[in-house]
Amino acid sequence: MDIKIKYAKDHVGQSVTISGWMYNRRGSGKIYFLQLRDGTGFIQGIVTESDGGMESMQMAESLTMESSVKVTGKINAHPKKENVFELIVESIEPIQVCKEEYPISKKEHGPEFLLDNRHLWLRSKKQWAIQRVRNTVINATYEYLNDNDFIKIDSPILTPNACEGTTELFEIDYFEEEKAYLSQSGQLYIEAAIMSHGRVFDFGPVFRAEKSKTRRHLTEFWMMDAEMAFADHEKNMEIQEGLVCHIVQKVLEKNRQELEILERDIEALEKVKAPFIRKTHAEVVKELQEMGSDIQPNDDLGADDETILTKKYDKPIFVEKYPAEVKAFYMKRDPKNPSVALCSDLLAPEGYGEVIGGSQREENYEVLMERIKEHDLDPSVFDWYLDLRKYGSVPHSGFGYGLERITGWMCGTHHIRETIPFPRMINRLKP
Ligand code: 4AD
Ligand code: MG
Repeated sequence: MDIKIKYAKDHVGQSVTISGWMYNRRGSGKIYFLQLRDGTGFIQGIVTESDGGMESMQMAESLTMESSVKVTGKINAHPKKENVFELIVESIEPIQVCKEEYPISKKEHGPEFLLDNRHLWLRSKKQWAIQRVRNTVINATYEYLNDNDFIKIDSPILTPNACEGTTELFEIDYFEEEKAYLSQSGQLYIEAAIMSHGRVFDFGPVFRAEKSKTRRHLTEFWMMDAEMAFADHEKNMEIQEGLVCHIVQKVLEKNRQELEILERDIEALEKVKAPFIRKTHAEVVKELQEMGSDIQPNDDLGADDETILTKKYDKPIFVEKYPAEVKAFYMKRDPKNPSVALCSDLLAPEGYGEVIGGSQREENYEVLMERIKEHDLDPSVFDWYLDLRKYGSVPHSGFGYGLERITGWMCGTHHIRETIPFPRMINRLKP
């Protein structure tokens, strides 16, 4: 019977066949331990002459690392470890025995070497675990949003305008001397869709020609933008809090094994519960200054500021009401203090920093037109976006998260480049 390793526990005592890869081997002469992987999990195959015969012994000896195989044997519960199973090998059928030595060995490799071999590195145990967690984050996001009456609306990738400022745009030639830009966020488009559906989200790759070489920046990453009609800044934060709690719960529930492989501090994740901490930008500036930062009242938070602030707390922090001048043109200003925007960045604890950016949107035509001009943007490019303020404009809010930042936080990875299958950075486009 063919089975997946994940279901080995249901087949104790039975003879089964597992199709997968041998990622490591120990032993010699009398006994071999084959470390097998099939996508769903890992199992050790034990090869001896008495159970597998001479043929299996010879095959085990000739298998090279990462060879693909079908291994048949009996499932045994591990004599000492709970919930661990072994395969007492009866026969081995090679699918492909690697002739060349597998480039990634057990020894320490530098990050550049591993990134050059990303197409192979994806098979490593930690990398396997990270992609599984990423998958859970994606599914949990769909679940939460669907349960809260959002529908998915896909936004375009080729766009005529900037969403998040013009300095980080990838420009491409678009027929007959027209220019197009790769989307930085689908937000403006899903704002159009809320007038039809009320609550919507998109989820896809976005692009930023970020010159910053930090552990938090990629030039291509996945963003989920959510947008709601008739929702204010407060409601916006409430939904973000609910979404993040749901994601963390699902990761804790579905990815125990992965978190263990990653040596993630599970208790830290268990502390992520509502209500999150809320502070205004002005409060945070004071707090950071007391911690030694040279941040000024009208500055955006720097990467180091986010790191030191979030190391202090074990819950996510909403930093609200940034100075309007450091934020995007579409953000509504606080009627009580027009120098600040009705916005929030959600900063993840343990030094992770910003994972979500969101705000209430300016819904007034004249005011929005004013902002577009203030930001030196061309109003003619935004005519369609301004139209939304002409026909049944309503108060509305939304936010966007970076999938790699959330995944990196869940997994406890230092650099987010490991959380996307094929990272794109200033100096990396391959593989
Ligand atoms: O804060 P940002 O720039 O917000 C927007 O784009 C809004 N239009 C979203 C919205 O309101 N719908 O980006 C949103 C999130 C950030 O909080 C961060 O998690 C992630 O996207 N992000 C990046 N992730 C990886 N690499 C980069 N270069 C990123 N830039 C932003
Ligand atoms: Mg932001």
